Amino acid sequence: MPHTDTPQTYRVKSFGCQMNVYDGERMAELLAEQGLTAAADGDAADLVVLNTCHIREKAVEKVYSDIGRIVKDATEEGGSAPLIAVAGCVAQAEGEEIMARAPAVKMVVGPQAYHRLPDMLKAATSGARVTDTDMPADAKFAALPKRRRAGPTAFLTVQEGCDKFCTYCVVPYTRGAEISRPHADLIEEAHRLIEAGAREITLLGQNVNAWTGENAKGQTIGLDGLIRELAAIPDLRRIRYTTSHPNDMTEGLIAAHGEVEKLMPFLHLPVQSGSNRILRAMNRSHDADSYLRILERVRAARPDIALSGDFIVGFPGETEADFADTLSLVDAVGYAQCFSFKYSPRPGTPAATMDDQISAEVMDDRLKRLQDALNRHQLAFNQASLGRACDVLVERHGRHEGQWLGKSPWLQSVHFMAENGVTPAIGDILRVELVQAGPNSLAGRILG
Ligand code: SAH
Ligand code: SF4
Ligand code: F3S
Repeated sequence: MPHTDTPQTYRVKSFGCQMNVYDGERMAELLAEQGLTAAADGDAADLVVLNTCHIREKAVEKVYSDIGRIVKDATEEGGSAPLIAVAGCVAQAEGEEIMARAPAVKMVVGPQAYHRLPDMLKAATSGARVTDTDMPADAKFAALPKRRRAGPTAFLTVQEGCDKFCTYCVVPYTRGAEISRPHADLIEEAHRLIEAGAREITLLGQNVNAWTGENAKGQTIGLDGLIRELAAIPDLRRIRYTTSHPNDMTEGLIAAHGEVEKLMPFLHLPVQSGSNRILRAMNRSHDADSYLRILERVRAARPDIALSGDFIVGFPGETEADFADTLSLVDAVGYAQCFSFKYSPRPGTPAATMDDQISAEVMDDRLKRLQDALNRHQLAFNQASLGRACDVLVERHGRHEGQWLGKSPWLQSVHFMAENGVTPAIGDILRVELVQAGPNSLAGRILG
């Protein structure tokens, strides 16, 4: 077996959802614990981890072209190719195929197996090629190093996997069954993140509001209970959670939006379509009305809540009338922001082989009309915030000299300058008046 030099530097590139970002951070921590250091921006790394996403089309092609480019960049000037590891949801779904097709890849590691990276790395440096796509999700977290670094905003995965099996979606296959991480582990991780500087924690899960656990008193609690406990930690200032499923939106969680001050007034609740016929074909187990009723209750609990969602256009069989239902739902809700996608047939999912696949032209047209409507609502929401004074958590420097960027409670990007004798610092929470609104961000003025 050929022997490869032990890598000294690493780079983790994460694609896809926030849970992948979280996984990427944890892989980086694991590698750092093995003595590797993060490659500086622009420098070649000895080990490159591609932390991939499989949710929409061209995911696999993108991985192959990334691998090609990494090898080419590294070898062009006579250097040697780095060790390449493919992680994430494409690794889970296409691991064997990748091993067969891409000789440059030495490690394939699924989203529930990356705690074994150190052992895999040892094997790979002695010339082996290793694949691990095992699925027992709970073993992973216990094997990961403790959190030591955090920016002002941090992610904390509390729940993984999905049992919902929407007919278009790969997640139940790439992430496995729904599991909730134990309560005590989460409280401990939250404390560590806060000690490391986090002021805001976003609780993550593919179905985060399905989280359930047993608290220190032995009571079974839901996500609302966890949020209430975290809110009692003085140095934690803000709590968010994503992504939720309408079916798991409990009374307790809705009530928490009215009662827990640190829980930010923002809810991402994907609906996918406004047509009941399409929602049934998607196996969504809610309809347009039941979804709107949930939002009404959330708004009753927290009148200023900013709403967000996900939409898919061009699901098989979607007619112009179905699409019109989606547009009506959008107008009925008045979203603050949204994600919208063209339906993409995923291998192995039921929808991929349904009749009446929609043409690319129709999808393009519907996506454009939907996005026009969503952009209109987003701008209206931002304009309606003008004149409001709110707290902004300072996250980083802006593009312009002396400019800072942060988020409003409603998850809007706000930029502002040092003013009124206040020089912002990352992690500060400042009182800001919103004075200018664009479609994607607002300008703020620091109040004394
Ligand atoms: N668990 C979350 C979302 C996970 S995936 C939920 O159910 O809401 C994020 C988003 O990607 C989905 O909400 C959906 O809008 C989109 N998506 C998933 N599969 C897709 C596909 N095959 N084609 C297009 N968009 C898709
Ligand atoms: Fe995918 Fe549906 Fe599960 Fe969301 S709820 S991850 S869309 S299967
Ligand atoms: Fe993508 Fe996997 Fe997340 S498919 S969206 S990285 S769960």
